Amino acid sequence: MKKLMAANWKMFKTWDDAKTTAEELVSLTASNLPEDREVLIFPPFTALKGVAEAMASEGFSAGGQDYYIEEEGAFTGEISPKMLMDVGATYGLTGHSERRHVLGENDEYIGQKTAYGLEAGLNVVFCIGEKIDERKAGKVEEVLERQIRVGLKGVPTDIAPEKLSVAYEPVWAIGTGEVAGPEEIVAAHTFTRKTLISIFGEKANEMRILYGGSVKPGNCSDIIALDNVDGVLVGGASLLSESFSQIVLA
Ligand code: G3P
Repeated sequence: MKKLMAANWKMFKTWDDAKTTAEELVSLTASNLPEDREVLIFPPFTALKGVAEAMASEGFSAGGQDYYIEEEGAFTGEISPKMLMDVGATYGLTGHSERRHVLGENDEYIGQKTAYGLEAGLNVVFCIGEKIDERKAGKVEEVLERQIRVGLKGVPTDIAPEKLSVAYEPVWAIGTGEVAGPEEIVAAHTFTRKTLISIFGEKANEMRILYGGSVKPGNCSDIIALDNVDGVLVGGASLLSESFSQIVLA
């Protein structure tokens, strides 16, 4: 199973900057990318075509940060998986903390999106994670279990395991500089793996579980060496090609 080193650029970067950063990243990493690594960027929609073109080599890909649950129609402002794939995206992102807690998406809708994206032909990175008050109340497993079971309810159990990845991103570690500790990461990832196995059976061992939340060049190699950590999803530190290339090769 290849480790997935993914960048989420959120609402940052214009077309030119995005394309240039992706090109720089490929030139910094393509010649020495380990066989067991895959690199993925989720740029804003407006830059997706340029980034997908820059990432068109083996081991590199681009994805959409969001999409709607129909192929086309009167859905002002929305983008479909078909449209993402039309400009070269092979991945979609669902359940991100900012879509849950800033844009108000609930578990059911995220579940519809995850199932629809997979059915439409995207690989999906589905995000989960608890808020700080939920952690303090001892509810981490309860929250993760609910997010996973509802969020993956519509995914067929015969899904090819490499198509679906889960990103554990504790909300309190996103953009705060406060990375989760190794025990916290291992506990959450192990629980996620167990829950995935209870839904999909043993092949869930081949689904990637990524960690996200204040991943930096200085902490990445320790994080990806942990049990059940099959990659990272990086926000702030992925915006510069220099720092993301160090993460990719960590
Ligand atoms: O999706 C990635 C993310 O939310 C983590 O952001 O800035 O803490 O790496 P950051």
